[in-house]
Order: sequence, then structure tokens, then C-alpha cells
Amino acid sequence: MTSEERARTVDGDDGPAIRTVMRAKDVVDAYARWAPVYDAVFGPIMEAARKTAVAALPAGTERVLEVGVGTGISLPDYPAATRVVGIDLSPDMLEKARRRVAEKRLANVEAIHEMDAARLVFPESAFDAAMAMYVMTVVPDPARVMAEMRRVVRPGGRILVVGHFAADAGPRRLVARALTPFGRLLGWNTTITAATLAALPGTRLLADRPAGLGGFYRLLEFEVVK
Ligand SMILES: C[S@@+](CC[C@H](N)C(=O)[O-])C[C@H]1O[C@@H](n2cnc3c(N)ncnc32)[C@H](O)[C@@H]1O
Repeated sequence: MTSEERARTVDGDDGPAIRTVMRAKDVVDAYARWAPVYDAVFGPIMEAARKTAVAALPAGTERVLEVGVGTGISLPDYPAATRVVGIDLSPDMLEKARRRVAEKRLANVEAIHEMDAARLVFPESAFDAAMAMYVMTVVPDPARVMAEMRRVVRPGGRILVVGHFAADAGPRRLVARALTPFGRLLGWNTTITAATLAALPGTRLLADRPAGLGGFYRLLEFEVVK
């Protein structure tokens, strides 16, 4: 079994184990199929939480890394004074993002790179914030991605994570069940909880708040405390 063929498990020094179901090749293949229709199908329903996340960036945030930037659907939301670097595994999604940047003349978008969020090439503390919108439930290795975002964000900076995280009980559990087929379309791992991400070292959870679809989508705000 190669590392690409195996869904990873991370535990030990880097926090509790998080098992995921999607592998890197699955992600690239799945999003090659979704890229042509992604914005039409998944744009509006997930839009409110994207805007909430960008609005949650502290005033004066100068440079942001968006991991899993996809088609770049969130890029027009950033303030013009905030420089943004977007990365994603899927060349097909990135082609859309590059076209959007050109068509909308988004001068604050510094670069769009094909890159694995679990292996960022950026130096330590290169960004004031990192965003992961609807990504942590898709990446093959969420703990590693959190560790990489923590590494490239300066101490005191932010990591903002948007997504649907598993709830143990209550209305969110019912909504999650109802939307399970929708999540499956995107290969979502429905086992990750906010608590699992918050238990990883090097970050402090500042807030876990509803960000869309009646609280089904959450915004997790972390401060980097390395
Ligand atoms: C559900 S889409 C979200 C796209 C966008 N952030 C949004 O708000 O619509 C998930 C994205 O994560 C990307 N992705 C999945 N695993 C990745 C990884 N390991 N590194 C970088 N991007 C990844 C996929 O290619 C896809 O574009």
C-alpha cells in the first residue's frame, strides 16, 4: 500500500488521531469532474459562511493564505488592501480561479499555486492568517494541514476554518443527517468535530460560531500560539 493509496491516520505528538476517507488522487479526480459546475452547484448554498469568514479577519490583516481555494469563489470578498495567496490540489479548480482573478482584475491576489495543503512550500510565519473554507473535511490529512497552516502563520495570527463539523447530538445532528447525501457529493468526511481540531497543538480556539445554513456550517476561529 503506497502513501497515496492509504487514508492516513495522524496521532501521537501531533494530537489525536483523525481518520479521513479521501485520498489525494481521489480529490484531484473528484474536483476535475466538479470544476465546470462547482460555482453553480455549490456557490450560493455555501456563500454566507465564506463571507462571514473573510469578515472575521482582524482589521489590518495584510497577507492571507487560502488553502483549498478551489475556483477562487471567495477571492472577490477580500478587502483590496489584503494580499491573498491561494493554493489547491486540483489543477481544474485552479484554472477557474486564475480566470476569475484575471477577469475581475483582482490585483490583491498575489499568486495562485497548485500545492498540497499538507506540504506548504512557504516559510514559517509568512502570513498573518490562513483560511480553509470547506476544506478540512475533504483533505486526506486534516491534522497535518492544521499543522502546516500553524507553521506558516505568524504567532498571534489567525486560522479560520469553515465547514460542516460533526455534532454529537441536537438539531445540528438532524440537519447533518439530512444533508449527508449533499456532503457525499463533495467527498466530505463527516467524522471531524470542532473539538478534534481544537485539540491539536499550537492553536487556541477563540470561537466556534454558526456561519450559514442555520448553523450547519460553522466558522472556527483559531489564534496561533506557537
Ligand atoms: C469543497 S471544495 C472548497 C473550495 C472553496 N474553498 C470553496 O469555498 O468553495 C474543496 C477544495 O479543497 C481542495 N483540496 C482538497 N484536498 C486538498 C489538499 N490536500 N491540498 C489543497 N487543496 C485541497 C479541493 O481540490 C477543492 O478545490
